[in-house]
Amino acid sequence: MLSNLSHSLIYFLLVVVGAAFLVSPATATDHIVGANKGWNPGMNYTDWANNQTFFVGDFISFRYKKFEYNVFEVNKTGYENCTIEGATGNWSKGKDFIPLEKPGKHYFICGTGGCNSGMKVSIVVHSLPPPPSASITATKHSSESSKHVSDAAEVASGRLLLLVLRGLVVGLVSSIWM
Ligand SMILES: *[C@@H]1O[C@H](CO)[C@@H](O)[C@H](O)[C@H]1NC(C)=O
Ligand SMILES: *[C@@H]1O[C@H](CO)[C@@H](O)[C@H](O)[C@H]1NC(C)=O
Ligand SMILES: *[C@@H]1O[C@H](CO)[C@@H](O)[C@H](O)[C@H]1NC(C)=O
Ligand SMILES: *[C@@H]1O[C@H](CO)[C@@H](O)[C@H](O)[C@H]1NC(C)=O
Ligand SMILES: *[C@@H]1O[C@H](CO)[C@@H](O)[C@H](O)[C@H]1NC(C)=O
Repeated sequence: MLSNLSHSLIYFLLVVVGAAFLVSPATATDHIVGANKGWNPGMNYTDWANNQTFFVGDFISFRYKKFEYNVFEVNKTGYENCTIEGATGNWSKGKDFIPLEKPGKHYFICGTGGCNSGMKVSIVVHSLPPPPSASITATKHSSESSKHVSDAAEVASGRLLLLVLRGLVVGLVSSIWM
């Protein structure tokens, strides 16, 4: 049974989530590799990646035939040579959601041989857009550039809110089950 504390926490959470939907249209993006073609041989994932903008907090997801293919996160050498030595992660569920937690280059390849048939993708993950204070300096420039900056600030605050919410949910869940 839930304690009174848990009940108030749930109520608080609902209010915060409701407010979040009102305040922010921004959400973390799930970048589905290859879109509706998925993670398969014979694709050029450079073209796909060039068409995406990745931010910290987004997800990259791979959809493929389980057991036939998989996903390894490797370094530049692994990406170029299709080798998995020193891989920093591997996934094999067939529907893998990978959180992008660090800015910079990330390399993913298939570890069952598909890499040699194009199943490799390299992406650049950007840090969160600049904080709201940036819009003050931007108003000195053209209205077009300040619009971009305030959009970015809106995205940043939305993402920050999501991170806070994620923390709240984790806290709530552990307070119920522990
Ligand atoms: C994939 O596309 C990129 C950019 O269009 C190109 O530079 C690259 O050579 C292509 N790779 C293959 C294996 O065709
Ligand atoms: C890039 O994105 C646009 C708009 O979403 C889409 O029409 C186009 O097919 C995409 N190109 C590639 C190579 O994925
Ligand atoms: C990667 O492959 C190239 C040739 O394809 C080779 O010259 C190089 O030594 C390889 N690097 C590693 C770290 O295996
Ligand atoms: C990638 O990892 C392999 C194995 O740990 C290592 O030998 C290689 O030097 C690394 N390459 C880069 C570019 O860091
Ligand atoms: C895959 O990842 C697990 C940990 O998540 C690790 O124990 C295992 O050695 C990895 N496999 C390979 C082939 O790197």
